[in-house]
Amino acid sequence: MTATLDPVRPAPAFTERYLLDPAVNADPYPYLNALREHRPVHYSPLHRAWLVTGHAQLTRALREPAASADRVGPMMDAVPEGARGDAERAFDILSRWMVFNDPPAHRRLRQAFQEQFAARAINRYQALIERVTRALLARRAVAGRVGDLVADVAKPLPALVFARWLGVPQQHSASFWYWNARVGDLVLGAAQEEREYRTSLQSLVNLEDYLADLVRQRRAEPQDDLISAVLASGRIGDTVSEAEFVGMLTQMAFAGGETTSNLIANAVRALLLHPDQLAAVRERPELAGAVVEEAMRFDGPSKMSIRVASRDFELDGAIVRGGDRVFLVTAAANRDPDRHPDPDRFLVTRADTSHLGFGLGVHFCIGAALARMVARAALEVLIAEHPGLSLAGDRHTWQPSLLNRSLTALPVRY
Ligand code: HEM
Repeated sequence: MTATLDPVRPAPAFTERYLLDPAVNADPYPYLNALREHRPVHYSPLHRAWLVTGHAQLTRALREPAASADRVGPMMDAVPEGARGDAERAFDILSRWMVFNDPPAHRRLRQAFQEQFAARAINRYQALIERVTRALLARRAVAGRVGDLVADVAKPLPALVFARWLGVPQQHSASFWYWNARVGDLVLGAAQEEREYRTSLQSLVNLEDYLADLVRQRRAEPQDDLISAVLASGRIGDTVSEAEFVGMLTQMAFAGGETTSNLIANAVRALLLHPDQLAAVRERPELAGAVVEEAMRFDGPSKMSIRVASRDFELDGAIVRGGDRVFLVTAAANRDPDRHPDPDRFLVTRADTSHLGFGLGVHFCIGAALARMVARAALEVLIAEHPGLSLAGDRHTWQPSLLNRSLTALPVRY
């Protein structure tokens, strides 16, 4: 018998896939790992955008001044012809969101809120957060009952806390969160049909009208909430106009609500799928903070940030042309083996707990400490008071979304 030599096989050709392909959306990491290995800065004709997936390249891009956050114009271009009439005021509101502004305007806008997100300001909410978490769990998480952790805890907890923190009275909470969800459809690209666009555009206008009225009330009669605290700083009407303030307020709940819900749900799912890690946390409850960071890295709520090139710039040998869209896929960079050893393992005892889940640079999430506090409280209470918590089924479905990593439900047995 003659031995046959193995022919030298060429590396398999990389096949581009749509990030919203149901299989990729359900578990994006194998594909994102392959994409990063293929080329960490890759122009995708399918997405008509650059996909940046390498940690070093993405970090550079987040600091690149020519990678502009001002993308309201391109978003407006996507609105169907029939809904254009309603779009003008809504897009004017979006243009005041700090996340869509570049320096120097961005710095001025962000400064109006900065103090209210500092540890000293948000630590005051620790007791409230713990109380609401315990009350929610006492009501919904009856031992032995099968429930949906998303509907029982992950969704209502941030909604209750952030409405209270912002200053929205409980009786307005339902419409407030409905408008926020529709604004999410617009900004996250879930609105596709003309009717959905109209609903989303009108919801943003309703949200602004509502918050403008709340600002007027708080000016007349301050309370213990975010709106009153920012007004008391004296910046509104000085460095930042009242219209800019109200515009930015329409971003706050939207930016914090769903993302924090997704962090809680994704963190609990990761823990329940990794019993050895859950056991480690049960043994050392002080690891709850590390669980939050590892969940942000391993399966965080935000998959990418988007930029538009304001002029040509070079990134890792590629020339990004002025006007090109750039998708900064943080979910891929957080699994880059050049940055994180053994990146596909969920490991709550990592020495290096850094990640890009809250972004980086001037737009680094202003609400990161608040989100961490809410998620940590939820985990601590769940771990301490529900020693038998387990998954009830292992088939999980995810909202179709380019930007968010969002479970539709998480069936558990309490
Ligand atoms: C786990 C929860 C959260 C995640 C994963 C998250 C993620 C992010 C990311 C990735 C960015 C950067 C966006 C970019 O570079 O384009 C960002 C910015 C921002 N986030 Fe968060 N966020 C969370 C919670 C919150 C909360 C609780 C609030 C407020 C209540 C908030 C308010 C904001 C705002 C206002 C910005 C814009 C900051 C700027 O442009 O300077 N976020 N967030």
